[in-house]
Amino acid sequence: MIVAGSGLVLAVETSCDETAVAVVEGGRRIVASIVASQVALHASTGGIVPEVAARAHLRWIVPVFEEARAAAGIDDWSTVDGVAVTYGPGLAGSLLVGINFAKTLAWVHGRPLIPVNHLEGHIYAAWLLDPGEPSRPEPAFPLVALVVSGGHTFLVEMAGHLSYRLLGQTVDDAAGEAFDKVGRLLGLPYPGGPAIMAAAAAATRRDAVFPRAWLGDSFDFSFSGLKTAARRSIEALRRDHGELEPQVVSELAHGFQESVVDVLATKTGLAAERSGAQCIVLGGGVAANAVLRDRIAGRAAALGIPLVVPRPGLCTDNAAMIGAAGFQRIRAGSRADLALDARPSLKLVE
Ligand code: KG4
Ligand code: ZN
Repeated sequence: MIVAGSGLVLAVETSCDETAVAVVEGGRRIVASIVASQVALHASTGGIVPEVAARAHLRWIVPVFEEARAAAGIDDWSTVDGVAVTYGPGLAGSLLVGINFAKTLAWVHGRPLIPVNHLEGHIYAAWLLDPGEPSRPEPAFPLVALVVSGGHTFLVEMAGHLSYRLLGQTVDDAAGEAFDKVGRLLGLPYPGGPAIMAAAAAATRRDAVFPRAWLGDSFDFSFSGLKTAARRSIEALRRDHGELEPQVVSELAHGFQESVVDVLATKTGLAAERSGAQCIVLGGGVAANAVLRDRIAGRAAALGIPLVVPRPGLCTDNAAMIGAAGFQRIRAGSRADLALDARPSLKLVE
């Protein structure tokens, strides 16, 4: 039974290649969450073609919304405290579909329109509870959050809700981008992240070692040198031995993954230690990586603080995380009007 004022947020996310609508209560409890993935659509091109993604959002936004609305049993819109929508960062055409859909819903039903930054959505996924999942404490402040996705890689410190201090970020490629590019070089299916994780897990030899970019004492990241090193190794092996054997692909995938995970986990642990964090939060598609999760869990355990990481389906793009962040935005008084526009290059910290 849903009652008015319980913090019910209907959320829309279309920033990249997932068409998603969710209903979240009190910034935590998922009432319904529907995600239509375009992965199969983009597999043949080995990556996202923006126009194709935007057209697919147009095709799917109404059925995805209708399924989420029906699953949440929303008939009386007076129970809905706001319509939250991702307005950036992301692909302009994709963002526009979700923004215009959310604007229309908010206007037609007379509900507040709540603008949400996709990146804070990835952080707030850590607050979510699945339907029926026993409650657990919220992530405690101050905390350090690592967001690792296909488009972004950064570390922030949060002293409280919606308060972000940037500690470091990638100076070139995002971690997910590196996974995707190296996956393609290895001849693995798109997206590269899950494919590299699976190939690495099957490695029997673990001798391939790739460089780590520490960038001195900073909390910044760089993955382009690693990508180039991987490309050179792959090209040299192909030149000398022809097509790569599956075992060689696995060994290279393992070496690459170790390099990424080592830098991400070491810097996150150090950031948490130096800032006296009470908790580490991990989010974004690459946080679905089991080795990264394990390695950061080890760092958190050594510091005696909890690691909060959403289940893999809530690490990759979804609308429930936008609902969780949207709830905090409502509490903070954020509102948008019908002039809300897509902000493809929106930053978390301006
Ligand atoms: O957060 P997300 O769904 O979309 C963006 O906002 O970018 O992240 C997608 C990225 C892709 O680069 C994908 O390869 C990566 O997350 N990814 C993974 C894994 N699952 C998804 N990377 C490493 N290991 C995984 N298991
Ligand atoms: Zn994302």
